[in-house]
Formats: sequence, C-alpha cells, structure tokens
Amino acid sequence: MVDASIQQSINVADLFSVKGKIALVTGGSRGIGLMIARAYAVNGVKVYISSRKKEACNNAAAELSKIGECVSIPADLSTSEGRAALVSEIKRREHKLHILVNNAGASWGATIEAYPEEAWDKVMTINVKSIFMLTRDLLDVLARAGTAEDPARVINVGSIDGIKVPALDNFAYSPSKAAVHHLTRVLAVRIASHNMTVNAVAPGPFESKMTEWMLKNFRETVEQICPRKRIGRPSDMAGVALFLASPAGAFINGAVIPVDGGLSLT
Ligand SMILES: NC(=O)c1ccc[n+]([C@@H]2O[C@H](COP(=O)([O-])OP(=O)(O)OC[C@H]3O[C@@H](n4cnc5c(N)ncnc54)[C@H](OP(=O)(O)O)[C@@H]3O)[C@@H](O)[C@H]2O)c1
Repeated sequence: MVDASIQQSINVADLFSVKGKIALVTGGSRGIGLMIARAYAVNGVKVYISSRKKEACNNAAAELSKIGECVSIPADLSTSEGRAALVSEIKRREHKLHILVNNAGASWGATIEAYPEEAWDKVMTINVKSIFMLTRDLLDVLARAGTAEDPARVINVGSIDGIKVPALDNFAYSPSKAAVHHLTRVLAVRIASHNMTVNAVAPGPFESKMTEWMLKNFRETVEQICPRKRIGRPSDMAGVALFLASPAGAFINGAVIPVDGGLSLT
C-alpha cells in the first residue's frame, strides 16, 4: 500500500511544473543558457541570467521579459570579484533560489604544439572552478528553497566531449567537461542532505556562438554520424532542463544526462 502522506499528483501538468520557482542561469544571454532561461521564463519561473557582456545580457533579459519574468545581472564568473557581485545581488533580491543552472562556459581550439597555458587556465577556471565556487556560495539560498519533497536543483552543463574524445583539438575543454561530470557526482553525494539534487546535462552539438565555426564546417558530417541524424534543438534542451527542475526530476541525483541523439555512443 502507498503511504498517503507521500501521495503526489502524477498529472503531467503538476508533475512537470516549475511555476513559481526562482532560477539563476549563468551564461543565459545566448546559446544553450538562453534556451534554458527561455524554457523557464515561459513556464512561470522568475529567471536571473548572468554573463560578462552587460548589453547582451540586458538585451536577452528584456527579450525574455516579454514572455515571463527575467532579470539581468552581468558578471564575469571567472573572477572571485565577479562571482561575489552576482552572489550578493542574488541574495539582496531573493531569500530562496530553487534552481541554479551552471551553464557559462568557454572552449579554446588549438593544436597541441600551439596550445597556450593561459587557454588551459581560462577554460578550467570558467568551466570547472566557477561552478564549484558559485554553488558553494549559493548553498544557503538553495538550501532555503529545497524541501524533502521538492529539493532545490543544481544543473551543471557538461558536454559529450567530457564523455568521449572529441574529433577536434580543444585540449583543455574535454577534460574540463569530464571534471564537470565528476564534480556533479561528488556534489550530488555530499550536498543531497541539504534538500538538493545535483545533476549534469551533457549536450551534443547545438547551435550557438561556441559551435558556429564547427557547424559551418562539419554540420553535415555530424548529422550523418548522429543516430538521430540531426543536431540539438532548443526544445531538446528545454525538455531536459524542465524535467530536471520539476517534481518529476526530484529523485534524479548525480546523473549525467547526454542530450545528443545518441552521438556519444558512436
Ligand atoms: N553548443 C553546444 O553544442 C554545446 C555542446 C556541449 C556543451 N556545451 C556547453 O554549453 C554551455 C553554453 O555554451 P554555448 O554553446 O551556449 O556557448 P556560447 O554561445 O558561447 O555561450 C556561452 C555563454 O557563457 C557566457 N560566459 C562565457 N564566459 C563567461 C564568464 N567568464 N563569465 C560569465 N559568463 C560567461 C557567455 O556570455 P559572455 O560572453 O557575455 O560572457 C554566454 O552567455 C557551455 O558550458 C558549453 O561548454 C555547448
């Protein structure tokens, strides 16, 4: 017999609802972050977005404000000053944060002979260190939002390049994404007791500034190799982001979910 106290609605509208939650999406000004921020804003989440370029971040928030609630807080998350400014602005405005999407990231392509040390540091700092530091510094507002039934959600954006060795030379990027996946598992175990879950999505190719050059040159090849014969669409990213943030995703913890049409298996 099912315990009456834990009976919950399995109506799809309730099970996948994110309405009334508050989210921060880093790198929400364009690309995958904007896809996620839009999905939340359309579905009743108050969304904060952050990125370095103030004008682009403000413009994206203004655009999303036409369909929901979105606030821009520009910050460079690769610096401790930038992270501190974002954290203090979030805490000045909100007592609780239900969803943290650690999406801001960067890549650097170069041959091994020409790979600069500063590229390694830049990629590792924004892709890995900033996720850990931001999550650490937002733990209190996340913990306040989470309940045993509906935990707060940390969603890290990894990559299929962190699962398999990529075809192109981006030496710091794929190890950084493998680190994101493992940091996700570590945090999932260590902070789940704070009424939180920590998961990662590992996207395959989606249209963005980061993939502009690659898709211009290799789109057909990628689509041919991918078992689903296409690249990702905004609705693919919206689907996984909504699922992980909704009651339907409440018991998923420490997972790394490829969103790649099966490309990482080839
Ligand atoms: N697109 C894909 O196919 C794909 C596949 C796998 C994984 N990913 C991952 O998805 C995430 C988003 O990538 P994307 O493809 O959407 O790339 P993108 O179009 O280049 O977007 C990156 C976002 O991060 C922000 N950002 C970069 N450095 C930052 C910093 N130091 N501080 C704050 N914000 C910063 C950018 O804004 P500013 O420039 O204004 O700072 C932008 O909003 C990344 O983690 C990437 O590794 C993408």
